[in-house]
Amino acid sequence: MTTNVLRYLDESRDQAVAKLTELLRIPTISADSKFKEHVLRGAKWVHDALASAGLKTELMQTPGNPIVYAEWLNAPGAPTVLVYGHYDVQPSVPDEKWTTPAFEPTIRDGCIYARGATDDKGQMLTHVLAAAAWLKAEGKLPVNLKFVIEGEEEVGSRNLDDFLVAQREQLKCDVCVVSDTSQYGPGMPAITYGLRGILAAEVTLTGPNRDLHSGVFGGSVWNPINALCRLIGKLHDDQGRITVPGFYDDVMKLTDVERAEFAALPFDEAAYKQKLGVDATWGEAGFTTLERRWTRPTCDINGIYGGYGGEGPKTIVPSTATAKITCRLVPDQDPEKLTAALEQFFRTNCPAGVKLDFSAHHGGHPTVADINSPFMAAARRAIETAFGKAPVLIREGGSIPVVATFKRVLGVDTLLLGWGQDTDNLHSPDEHFSLEDFHRGTRASACLWAELANGAK
Ligand code: BES
Ligand code: ZN
Repeated sequence: MTTNVLRYLDESRDQAVAKLTELLRIPTISADSKFKEHVLRGAKWVHDALASAGLKTELMQTPGNPIVYAEWLNAPGAPTVLVYGHYDVQPSVPDEKWTTPAFEPTIRDGCIYARGATDDKGQMLTHVLAAAAWLKAEGKLPVNLKFVIEGEEEVGSRNLDDFLVAQREQLKCDVCVVSDTSQYGPGMPAITYGLRGILAAEVTLTGPNRDLHSGVFGGSVWNPINALCRLIGKLHDDQGRITVPGFYDDVMKLTDVERAEFAALPFDEAAYKQKLGVDATWGEAGFTTLERRWTRPTCDINGIYGGYGGEGPKTIVPSTATAKITCRLVPDQDPEKLTAALEQFFRTNCPAGVKLDFSAHHGGHPTVADINSPFMAAARRAIETAFGKAPVLIREGGSIPVVATFKRVLGVDTLLLGWGQDTDNLHSPDEHFSLEDFHRGTRASACLWAELANGAK
């Protein structure tokens, strides 16, 4: 049966690429309200694609962007699988850094270039196409399928948790599937069994009530940018460890087995540095680069601004300074607890003479899944068939907060099956997705439904 489906997919590759191109043309940027109309158009597009594939489909309204829900539940006795993905994308700025415009998909060197190509439109679409192929080629699916495709992932999924809690009965399933991560490398498919969590915050220091002449007043009051830099400078010690009290209290210790498994993965430190254009790596002492990226927490300033940034000099003591901060968290760190610890750190260390405002943005819990489940085994077989190579097991450093929510609300693990590469420039200019990976991912998805039906009930 799977053979017919795979044949159908092979014969309809051009239509698949045409579909992806259509979706990539819609600038579904969730961070910028100017794009709202396009975001809604994107939701409708995904809704229509699932409906024409033969699923029962509904556009669910939320206080923010709509969630596309679809289901096909005609496989009694077979497992129920919930596929999650997102149709929203990161902003395309800086647009001038793109070789071809972000929302004019272009194929070069076997890759499709556009914002969202890999994160997550291309990867998400593999599952839609696989379901459509089963229904076209066989008239049925081997499992019951539910789709939840949201439009606010890139801005912290603020309405998703309420939706999942409210619809928990409708969303009941045996396992979730998400393709929003990466392979380990070209020709090295992977199953990701752990992700970092996240907390996001913003700190503003206000000094004098207006920008001052730095000659007349400088040296007599705190310059809020100087003060902010001092505070930020204190966040790490010389060993690259975060100094916020209690920060490491709940960090799960890496096991020797896991360390050995990561060490056995091919990793070329020199190539990594070259790829990123740096002459040295940096991080917490005592950990390798992979361990730092996948299993250790971070505290990063994402943006810092204040004062004068225009051409030429301007001699002022600025009135305010702001930093945007994210911390990546690992099991069992709790975003709320650590947001409070971070705020406390800033309040304790903030000097007199500047006022501190701290606001918390979104948060998400870290996750690790059971690597010995029958679902993992089914995914391994499906990937091996489609990619011609068994996947390696990895953790990754990015965050998909819904994975922890699926565990908490629906009580299920998530299979993180990334078809992209970490060099696909997600969140950067010239984002792209290899069409071979796109097609292999679609085949793997088609095989997965059969494998889950065979061996994972
Ligand atoms: N697809 C990424 C997450 C990702 C990327 C996981 C690479 C593993 C490897 C996702 O779209 C994303 O960027 N998520 C945000 C979450 C945040 C806004 C809550 C992230 O990780 O910054
Ligand atoms: Zn994503």
